[in-house]
Amino acid sequence: MEFFNREQEKEEIINILKTEPRVVNFIYGPINSGKSTLIENLIENLPRDYIVFYINLRERMISSYNDFIEILFEYEFEEEKKIKKAKELIPGVIEGVKMLSGIPISTKVFEKIFAEEKPKNAFRCIMKVIEEIKRKNKIPVLIIDEMQKIGDVKVNGLLIYEVFNFFIRLTKEKHLCHVFAISSDSLFIETVYADAKLSGRCRYLLVDDFDKETAKKFLGKYGFSVKEQNIAYNYFGGKPLDLSNLVSLSGGSNIKKIADDGISERMYHLRDMLDKLLYVKINISSDGENIPVKREKLIEVMRMFEDTGEIKDINISRAEKRYLINENILFIDPIRNIIKPQSKLDLVAIRDVLDEVEKSGKTRRLNKR
Ligand SMILES: Nc1ncnc2c1ncn2[C@@H]1O[C@H](COP(=O)(O)OP(=O)(O)OP(=O)(O)O)[C@@H](O)[C@H]1O
Ligand SMILES: [Mg+2]
Repeated sequence: MEFFNREQEKEEIINILKTEPRVVNFIYGPINSGKSTLIENLIENLPRDYIVFYINLRERMISSYNDFIEILFEYEFEEEKKIKKAKELIPGVIEGVKMLSGIPISTKVFEKIFAEEKPKNAFRCIMKVIEEIKRKNKIPVLIIDEMQKIGDVKVNGLLIYEVFNFFIRLTKEKHLCHVFAISSDSLFIETVYADAKLSGRCRYLLVDDFDKETAKKFLGKYGFSVKEQNIAYNYFGGKPLDLSNLVSLSGGSNIKKIADDGISERMYHLRDMLDKLLYVKINISSDGENIPVKREKLIEVMRMFEDTGEIKDINISRAEKRYLINENILFIDPIRNIIKPQSKLDLVAIRDVLDEVEKSGKTRRLNKR
C-alpha cells in the first residue's frame, strides 16, 4: 500500500535533521499509528549525504545484554578480510549505502565486545564508527525502534541508563549524531519523561492516528464513498493499520462486519479481564511496589470513557490505570497529559462491555428480590 500523508510529521523530522544534533528524539504514539512506517518512508527519501542506522529491536527476544549487542552490530563484511579498525572498514561499507540495520564493525572487534559485556566499550566502538562517517562528510543518524524492549535488561545496573547516557553524549555533548528512539509502550515513555536526569535532554514527537479529515481522504483515495468514509471513521477512527486493512479486505462493503469482528475480540479481552478479577488477585508494579488492581475501580476508570474519547490524566486510580495501559487497552500521552483508548475499536468495546456489566448488575439485583 502506498504511503499516505504525514506531511507535518515529516517536515518536523526533516527540520531536525537539518540542524545540529542537540537532544535525543523520542517518537511515540498509540499502537499501530504508523511510527515505523513513517520512519521507513523518511529514510527512503533522505538525500545521499545521510547514513542511517535503523535498528529494530522487534525482531528478536532481548533478555540479556548480549542479545542486545547481537542486534546492535552488523559484522562479517565483504570488505573486512583482516581489517580491524573502523577507519579502514567504514569507507567501503558505506559506499553507495544509505541505510544499515546495524553498526558495522569487524568480526574480531565484535567478538571482543561480546565477550567483555561492558557497554562502555561497545559504545566507544560505535563512537569511532560515527566519527569515521563524519570524516567522510556524511551525516550519521541512529534510530532504535521498539526501544522499550531493553527496558528491563541488566548489565550491572539497568542497560537502558547506559544507553541513554551514550545518546546524550552523542547529541547534547558532542553533537555528533542524530538519535531517534521509537516506542509505542506509553508506560515506558512515561518513565523516560518523568526521569529527572533526562529532562531538557530529550524532545518528544507524537505520531498519532490520522485525524478525521486525513482518514477520510485516505479512504477516498481507495474509492470509498463519503457515506462509507463516515461509517468507517465511526468504527475505526483514524488508525492507519485498521484503515489499510479495511481497504484491502472490503473495498467499501462489509465495513460493519469487519468492525464487529474487531470489537468482539476486544470485548472478549475486557470481559475476561473483569472476570479474572473476581477470582484472582492481580497486582501491578509501580516504583518497585506492587499495588492491587480492584475490579470496581477498573470499571470506574472505564466509565470515564462513556461520553468522551479522551480524558485528562488527573486523579485516576493508579493501579487500574496502569493495568489498562499495560494490557494495551489505554494509551497514555504524558506530554499532553491525556489518556485515551488505543483505538476507536477499543473505545466501542469498552462502552459495550460497560453496558453488559450494567445489565447483568440489574438482573442480579432483580433476582435477589
Ligand atoms: N502513512 C501511512 N500510509 C499508509 N499506510 C500506513 C501509514 N502508516 C501506517 N500505515 C499502515 O499501518 C500499519 C501499521 O503501521 P506501523 O507498523 O508503522 O505502526 P507502528 O506505530 O510502528 O506500530 P507499533 O506500535 O506496533 O510499533 C502499516 O503496516 C501500514 O499498513
Ligand atoms: Mg513500529
